[in-house]
Amino acid sequence: MAKLAINGGEKVITRSLGREWPIWDECEERALLDVLHSGRWWGGGEGSKVRQFEDTFSAYQNAKYGITTTSGTQALICALAAAGVEPGDEVLVPALSFFASATCLLFLNAVPIFVDVDPSSYNLSAEALEAAITDRTRAAVVVHNGGYPADMDAIMEVSRKHDLPIIEDCAHAHGSEWKGTRVGAIGHLGAFSLMAGKTLAGGEGGIILTNHAQFREKLYAYMDMGRWIERTDKSVRLGTTTNFRMPEWTAAILLAQLTRLDEQIERRERNFTYLAERLKEIDGIEPFERDSRVTRWSIYYWNFKYQQKAFDDIPRNKFIEAVNAEGASIGVGAHGQPIYQQPLFQSIHASHDKPIDYTQVHCPEAERIYQTEALSMSQRCFLGERVDMDLILEAIRKVRGHTDELRN
Ligand SMILES: Cc1ncc(COP(=O)(O)O)c(C=O)c1O
Repeated sequence: MAKLAINGGEKVITRSLGREWPIWDECEERALLDVLHSGRWWGGGEGSKVRQFEDTFSAYQNAKYGITTTSGTQALICALAAAGVEPGDEVLVPALSFFASATCLLFLNAVPIFVDVDPSSYNLSAEALEAAITDRTRAAVVVHNGGYPADMDAIMEVSRKHDLPIIEDCAHAHGSEWKGTRVGAIGHLGAFSLMAGKTLAGGEGGIILTNHAQFREKLYAYMDMGRWIERTDKSVRLGTTTNFRMPEWTAAILLAQLTRLDEQIERRERNFTYLAERLKEIDGIEPFERDSRVTRWSIYYWNFKYQQKAFDDIPRNKFIEAVNAEGASIGVGAHGQPIYQQPLFQSIHASHDKPIDYTQVHCPEAERIYQTEALSMSQRCFLGERVDMDLILEAIRKVRGHTDELRN
C-alpha cells in the first residue's frame, strides 16, 4: 500500500502551520480610528503619521532619511530617478528576483541588463556585476533575495571602483543586517515594499532610504509631483514626476506593525535555524551556509537547496509535489523564473538605439537554480512554535524514505 500522500497515503500535516498574515489587533483598529477622527487624512508635513513613520523606520534601518511612496515599485522608480537614471541608460539587475526589480526601469525608459547570481546566496554576483559594466551602465539594483543580504562588501567595492550608484531592493529584507548595518542603508539608496504580504505590512506602500542629503530632495520631488519638501517654494521642477504620496492610514498601520517586527524576526530566525540544523542531516536537502557577515537574517522567503542526485535522483519538482501533498508548503521562492524569461521581456526586441533581444540572454546559474535547485518557504510558516518545524521535518523525511514511490 502507498505510504506517500501524493499516492493516496495519509498526510503528515493536517493543519495550517505558522500564522495567518497579516497579524493585527486593536492597535491597528485604534490607529485607523485615530486618523479617521483627526480629519487629517493626507500624509504630508510635520506632525503627520507619514513623517513619523519615515523617521522611525529610517532610524530602525540605520539610515538618515526616509521618503514614503504608495508601493515598492514606485520606491524603486524614485530611487533610480534620484540616482540619475535617464532614458536609454543601462541598469544592471539580478536575473533572479521578482520582476518589479526590472520592470521599474521601463517606467523610466531605461534598459535592464540581467546579471547572473551567486549560487551561495541566490543574490547578484559581484564578479558578474563587474564584468557586465559598460560605458552605458548608469546604476545597479541589488536585491536581498528572500531577505538574505547580498555580499555588500564586494558589491560596494565594485561600486567605488566604477563610481556606480547602488540601489538596494529590500522588498524582502526589512530588518536584515550585513556586518551590523541594516540593509537599505549600505548602498546609495534602498527601496522597500510595504504591501500586505511583506514582513512590514501596510496594505500597499513603499519607502526609500538614503544616508545622502543630495538624494533626499530629489526623492521627495519624484514622489510628490516635483514639489520641494518644505513647500515654502511653491514652484515645481522635474517634469516627469507624478503623485506617489502615502496616505495617513497606511502610515498609522505601519507604525503599529513596526512594534511587532523585532519579535517576529527573532521568532522566524529561531525556527529556521532549528529547521536548518536538522535538514542538514537529510541527504539531498541543503540549507544555505550562513555567511558570518549576515548578522541578522530577516526572511520574507526562507530559501534552501535541493540536490537531485543525492535525493535518489528524484527531480526537484516531483519532490515539491510530494512534500506539498504531505501538507508542507514548499515552493521555489519569491523570485520564480529568471526575469528575462518573462513573456514581457521575451517580446521586447529593441530598446532605444541599441537593439536588445532578451530571448538571447542566458544567466546559467539563475536558470539552473530556478529549474532544479531552489526550495523556499514563506515567512508565515516560521511564526508558530517549534512543533511546526518538527512537522515539516517529518514530512520531508517521509518523502525521503519513500523515493521508490516517486518513480513511475
Ligand atoms: C524583490 C521585489 N522588488 C519589488 C517589489 C515591488 O513591490 P510592490 O509590490 O510593493 O510594488 C516586490 C514585490 O513583491 C519584490 O518582491
